[in-house]
Amino acid sequence: MRIRSAWLSLTAVAVLVAVACTPGGDDGGDEGETRQLVWAIGGAEAQPGGVHEQVAELWNEQNPDTPIRIELLPEEADQQREQQALELQAQGSGFDVLGVDVIWTGEYAENEWLESLEDVRGEIEGATLPGPFESATWGDELWVAPYNSNAGFLYYRTDLVDEPPTTWDELCEEAISVAEDEGINGFIGQGARYEGFVVNWLEYYWSAGGELYNEDQTQVAFDTELGVQATEFMADAMADGCYAPGFNTAQEEEARNEFQQGNVVFMRNWPYVHSLLEEDEEAPEFDIAPLPTFTGDGTISALGGFNNGVSAFSDNIDAAKEFVVWAATNEEAQTMLATEGSVPPTMASVYDDLADDPVMALLGDVLGEAKPRPPAPEWNEISVEMQRALFPAVNGEADIQSSVEAVRSHLETTVEQ
Ligand code: GLC
Repeated sequence: MRIRSAWLSLTAVAVLVAVACTPGGDDGGDEGETRQLVWAIGGAEAQPGGVHEQVAELWNEQNPDTPIRIELLPEEADQQREQQALELQAQGSGFDVLGVDVIWTGEYAENEWLESLEDVRGEIEGATLPGPFESATWGDELWVAPYNSNAGFLYYRTDLVDEPPTTWDELCEEAISVAEDEGINGFIGQGARYEGFVVNWLEYYWSAGGELYNEDQTQVAFDTELGVQATEFMADAMADGCYAPGFNTAQEEEARNEFQQGNVVFMRNWPYVHSLLEEDEEAPEFDIAPLPTFTGDGTISALGGFNNGVSAFSDNIDAAKEFVVWAATNEEAQTMLATEGSVPPTMASVYDDLADDPVMALLGDVLGEAKPRPPAPEWNEISVEMQRALFPAVNGEADIQSSVEAVRSHLETTVEQ
């Protein structure tokens, strides 16, 4: 009973809010009335005052007849996907525009959750960097409009470290010795059990020379030995104090807070953190560098980012489509991502215009080397299996060799025998 009445009053509130938020929502639903578009997107950048909200405000100034508002999804990628999937599986029209992580394109397209963007392909392709454009396609068809890209950076304390390390081993040696001298912790990244953990693991595995599949994803190319190397590196870093004690519960924001408060020497994180550190006068002095590798040659990062999709169940497909094309191709909106949020744009010309910006300059070096996670419809299952097998191994609670073999066996089930 209590639950039911609480639910009823919540529903009443929701109806009131919906009416209040809907221009013309109280005029009986005339044909052609404007309805506020809903943009379901999550992560730190979607928070009130964050850069996605500023982009929405810019659209609203320019398009007062088709305003948009953000429906804030959780910070964690896996939970964002879950919330979108709940609405889309029910064919709900609650979300018009979906912030689609680059790893979900195949799944959403196969599930028929998205409106195809083939009819606006030319305009979008002409404006966009090749890697992010690729991430927006599945089966040669354009399903989402590129919006923001992403690549991992190494953040380091310039008051404590002279030169950024170029190998993972150097990084850990320095993390441990500086941390000991300073009475702080060493290195933090995303070690909690979620998609970010898989991203961090892959960056070690790829930088050891590993691959998951062959180029056209018809065969597994997983190298168990390199998988063991990556996992052992992480397990050692946990055990010997290279990783900060909070590593295995940290997502992006927890890692940022640790670094921002001066509690660690090094951090692996995405570029959005740069602007937040710069804005904070109390934050330690820092700089950014490419992620190390095992040999010290080159750099490899996971390619991340969010593209905007038009929900197939939206009641306002035309306006939603206009918005996603605008967000991909409008120079002011794309520039805003970089200048207001240090979030990597997908529009090529913005990189030339902002070549002197330190974040954009480093992105110029690392984005070309960033590797996509396989955009297959089954990526979520693969990721969950990698989390299940590898997280305990990194935390000293499961045998490394057999955990890595379990990942290989799972990958084998995803290709035709
Ligand atoms: C960032 C990336 C996204 C990735 C996520 C993992 O948001 O842009 O692609 O999946 O981090 O935590």
